[in-house]
Amino acid sequence: MISTAEIGALVAPHRVHRRVYTDPAIFALERERIFARAWCYVGHESQLPITGSFLRAQIAGRPLIVVRQDNGEIAVLHNRCGHRGTLVVAEQSGQAARFRCPYHAWTFRTDGSLQSIPCREGYDGTDFHEDDPSLGMRPVARVGVYRGFVFASLATNGPDLASFLGPTAGAIDNIIARAPAGRIAFEGGVFRVRQASNWKIYLENMHDGLHPMIVHQPSIEPARAGSRAIPPPTSATAFALDVIAANGQTYQAMGKLPVRLFPYGHTEMAAFRSNPAATGEFAAYREQLVAIHGAAETDRLLGDNRLSTMFYPSASVQATSLQMRVIIPETVDRTLIEIHSLRLVGAPDSLWQRTVTLANTVHAPSSLVKHDDFAIYARVQDGLDGNSLEWIDYRRGTNDPSTSLSEAYIRNQFAAWRNYMTAE
Ligand code: FES
Ligand SMILES: [Fe+2]
Repeated sequence: MISTAEIGALVAPHRVHRRVYTDPAIFALERERIFARAWCYVGHESQLPITGSFLRAQIAGRPLIVVRQDNGEIAVLHNRCGHRGTLVVAEQSGQAARFRCPYHAWTFRTDGSLQSIPCREGYDGTDFHEDDPSLGMRPVARVGVYRGFVFASLATNGPDLASFLGPTAGAIDNIIARAPAGRIAFEGGVFRVRQASNWKIYLENMHDGLHPMIVHQPSIEPARAGSRAIPPPTSATAFALDVIAANGQTYQAMGKLPVRLFPYGHTEMAAFRSNPAATGEFAAYREQLVAIHGAAETDRLLGDNRLSTMFYPSASVQATSLQMRVIIPETVDRTLIEIHSLRLVGAPDSLWQRTVTLANTVHAPSSLVKHDDFAIYARVQDGLDGNSLEWIDYRRGTNDPSTSLSEAYIRNQFAAWRNYMTAE
């Protein structure tokens, strides 16, 4: 067992020990002390339209289902049978009136309680009772919904969801305000990619303004050349090329992008691409928003450029590009990432097409951009797995912690990491 003092010593103000990325024992503790204590994102209400709609999720290695109950509320249940522990639901998502275990057909209601079992008389003479919660699909300790975004916590104690999210909730507010119908929908399916790297390596790239012009260099120049092509590319292609070429920002430009640090390890970075809907092509959409919010507020909403907002440790939303990423650590050196697209309900289809183009161009694992990141994360892991380096330095930008050229957001993540990991 690793002592608390030993864990605390792995994280110093300006450096962190490689063991936090490579030691399976640390990883096991992270699951229990960080993921099992924090509020983790598990799904969006739009994915659960009717009674019995469900999604699979995972927190701290526990398989879960998120389900719309008979009373319309959302429950988050442990996806295991109260009989002998079988995973009850294998589908990623779907709809069911009841859940039936595939092993011996115990059946559970949408709130997880045990509804029926075959051969009930086999329990005669025992204290078995259907109402015993331990025989059902148990609910997690707490469920919180912020404007359709569903979070769950395995811990009975801790801050409520609103206090946990703090100012990061502003990113969700901004997205919803840009939807003429006042709501959004997760649509178009989900990209799921397994990365050969520790989950923190992904988070540490979240606001890294030092890497795009290097790591994405192979796609930047071809994209610039494509934009100059004769005849000029069609509108959708021009947009895709623009998005790729935007990675070729100078250090000077990246140094002007504000990064904000919040409690609980949360962070937020401003965008280096303008909002896709801010162009003249979307004048009619802008008028829709003006009718709702007025001109000044509409300009503020569209100009509120947030590239990514991190809800440490489990998810990140890209408000400008309308994407959401969910981080699911599987082993010390393997991380599952889910990438979703968000549709602004009531906005023109052409704007949704732009969101999909953006997802396919830079967020899809098969895009010209994203595989470069995944390759680098794996190389970081490979480098750390070797025992030749003890400490990783992250003191960059101590004098100016507020931009994407600073590693202050990583220090902020590790301050939260240390708090969670050393609290008994
Ligand atoms: S394990 Fe589920 S019914 Fe037996
Ligand atoms: Fe990148």
